[in-house]
Amino acid sequence: MGKEDDRGEEYLFKIVLIGDSAVGKSNLLSRFSRDEFDTNSKATIGVEFQTQLVEIEGKEVKAQIWDTAGQERFRAVTSAYYRGAFGALIVYDITRSDTFQSVKPHCDTAVAQMLVGNKCDLEDIRAVSVEEGKALAEEEGLFFMETSALDATNVDKAFEIVIREIF
Ligand code: GTP
Ligand code: MG
Repeated sequence: MGKEDDRGEEYLFKIVLIGDSAVGKSNLLSRFSRDEFDTNSKATIGVEFQTQLVEIEGKEVKAQIWDTAGQERFRAVTSAYYRGAFGALIVYDITRSDTFQSVKPHCDTAVAQMLVGNKCDLEDIRAVSVEEGKALAEEEGLFFMETSALDATNVDKAFEIVIREIF
């Protein structure tokens, strides 16, 4: 659902955040859109979205970012939102192997997908190595980046790479 007006001046890109519960999807979005982090964030119910303006090559791009619930009981609802997405950030938590095991590129329509290993500030309790992340991304043809919503490492970069690739 990318959109361009008559003069080709405006673009709207739908991007989805996917991944298990508590990997940090909502905090990645709040860090990117408002530069905020919440230590006590509540689990997302269903789907929420936010629109963020980004300037790419002098053009204003509206990124409509859909933040989905990771909890299993919302799976049927959230998978419907992957359809029509142009980009996806598929997020796991580097301290929890189970969240890495359940990573699957779900988004067939997306042109740009990035595998995101979040919480890289927690190096001392890391359970998934950078190499494992890279290898999976390579296998699946995804971009790869480790991020921290807490200290802001690579958060803007991850979103911008996906948006740029769509553009
Ligand atoms: P669902 O909405 O249930 O799918 O979870 P979510 O993926 O949106 O996770 P959320 O952003 O709510 O974060 C879950 C917990 O992890 C919260 O306590 C956050 O404060 C914490 N958290 C998120 N990102 C980071 C990070 O980069 N580093 C650390 N240390 N904690 C983080
Ligand atoms: Mg959430």
